[in-house]
Amino acid sequence: MRMTRVRRVLLGAMLGGSLAAAGCDGGATAGASGTGGERAATAGAASGAATGATPVRFADYDGGAVPGGPGAGRHYGIGIRATAAAITKMDRDIGPDGAELPAGTGSVAEGGALYKAQCAMCHGVNGEGMAPAFPRLSGRDPAAEGFKFASDPKLPHTIGNYWSHATTLFDYIRRAMPHVAPGSLTDDQVYALTAYLLAKDDVIAKDATLDAAALRAVKMPYADRFVPDDRRPNAPK
Ligand code: HEC
Repeated sequence: MRMTRVRRVLLGAMLGGSLAAAGCDGGATAGASGTGGERAATAGAASGAATGATPVRFADYDGGAVPGGPGAGRHYGIGIRATAAAITKMDRDIGPDGAELPAGTGSVAEGGALYKAQCAMCHGVNGEGMAPAFPRLSGRDPAAEGFKFASDPKLPHTIGNYWSHATTLFDYIRRAMPHVAPGSLTDDQVYALTAYLLAKDDVIAKDATLDAAALRAVKMPYADRFVPDDRRPNAPK
């Protein structure tokens, strides 16, 4: 469920980006007849350099494919072609079973220090969050035990009571946080932060240290309240 929401947010951001770009491009080309030639030259350079190491302008993207785009046969001429290396760098999702977890280790105590330095300014000293922008992370309310979110919409959602897998918490922090510098944390730091946040919500012991095996063994308190999204034919069973 978390993953679905995150994906939707990312997709939204991407669509917003292309629509904005389409608007700019349309405005720029409307009155400038020379732009077409420049585009064509760029397209030639792009296909020639497709196998090379230098980033090329991504000129193959057909503006006619997008409603409101510059039109069939016209190209945006923005962005760079994704290289295999760039894709590999981003393609590092960790799924619920944690099979892809990297080597590394981190303790609750180390995570506490990191949290204070890099997370508390947005998520609050105790993980209480800052409405409306920065979500609550911790402070699992005993009254929420029983997963009564449907009957009491005011119950706070926290990592301990509303996150399905510890492995995907690691994945999320590693890919998306801190919000201003995603991807900047080392794997050891992500293990430590994950340990700290899980301990804070009483999911693991306060003196725990996590590595891949230990993280895979963590069962979230309400794991059985989440069901795989089975709307896709290849969804995990
Ligand atoms: C600059 C502010 C900022 C900082 C610093 C920051 N975060 Fe976040 N964090 C956010 C925002 C905003 C979201 C919500 C993002 C979304 O929903 O797309 C978020 C979401 C999260 C979530 C998911 C919460 C949920 O239940 O949906 C986790 C976990 C998290 N952050 C952990 C961290 C950790 C760990 C750090 C420190 C390494 C950190 N964040 C630093 C702004 C921040």
